[in-house]
Amino acid sequence: MKIIHKISQIREIIKDLNSSIGLVPTMGALHKGHASLIKKSVEDNDFTIVSVFVNPVQFGINEDFDKYPRTLQKDAQLCEKLGADVVFAPSVDEMYQDTKELTLVCPPYSAINKLCGKSRPGHFDGVATVVSKLFNITKCTRAYFGQKDAQQLFIIKKMVKDLNFDVEIVPCPIVREDDGLALSSRNSYLDENARKDALKLSAALKYSKELWQKGIRDKQTLCDSALKILGGLDVDYVEIVNPDTFEDWQENDKNALMLIAAKIPPVNTRLIDNMEL
Ligand code: PAJ
Repeated sequence: MKIIHKISQIREIIKDLNSSIGLVPTMGALHKGHASLIKKSVEDNDFTIVSVFVNPVQFGINEDFDKYPRTLQKDAQLCEKLGADVVFAPSVDEMYQDTKELTLVCPPYSAINKLCGKSRPGHFDGVATVVSKLFNITKCTRAYFGQKDAQQLFIIKKMVKDLNFDVEIVPCPIVREDDGLALSSRNSYLDENARKDALKLSAALKYSKELWQKGIRDKQTLCDSALKILGGLDVDYVEIVNPDTFEDWQENDKNALMLIAAKIPPVNTRLIDNMEL
């Protein structure tokens, strides 16, 4: 397996490939959640590219771009073990000549004025832009995204449709630890106590799902009981949306997706999680 840092080298490799290409876009610090995407791509495609790039354009000024974990050698070992063909790990300069004078791909306001888009202005412009660049660089047939980042997945699917990218988006289920915590690269910021607090996200979702299964459909009741379990955390949002449209869930919508974002003390690690009710 090759580790490649230059766009020109990727272009050189794929030029002669007459086969299906799977792309797994990541920011590295790979865990079992990422591994599930890589495995699926290796199963589905002749050739798998895993990109590892901490994308500065999707981080806000007060966010964790500088301290985001960077573990390229370890990531590459995992990719090799899983059967990936190439790790594409460009530098920031290789991807962006000038981040201030950049042509951006901007998802519509209706998709970003809520949930993570509301509390992280510019975040999804950065995601849509880097993902478009990765699609153009790798000329992938399929690209793999986790349902853990449900709003991101919704926005990417819409972008592919709106801009006619010839790429199949493959959604992959959330991978959790045995105790329910959704795997995330940011879990490495959690000490023992913070990890206990972090479990409140999946516990709140699970409890709301139980209420839903008992027939409770009142949005306020569902959100309030989740908020009770999240006590002690700095909750950014608890919302229920229609998973097909990402509009607020209405009582006659059949499917409902509950989403939570919260900061975990003492260092305010921002975690997200979601569950179909
Ligand atoms: P990152 O957070 O590294 O996640 C890369 C991919 O792994 C995303 O599609 C994410 O949804 C998926 N993923 C993360 N944790 C998961 C889990 N527990 N179970 C299943 N899938 C999981 O998301 C990004 O990077 C970036 O925004 C990116 C798309 C790479 C653009 O920079």
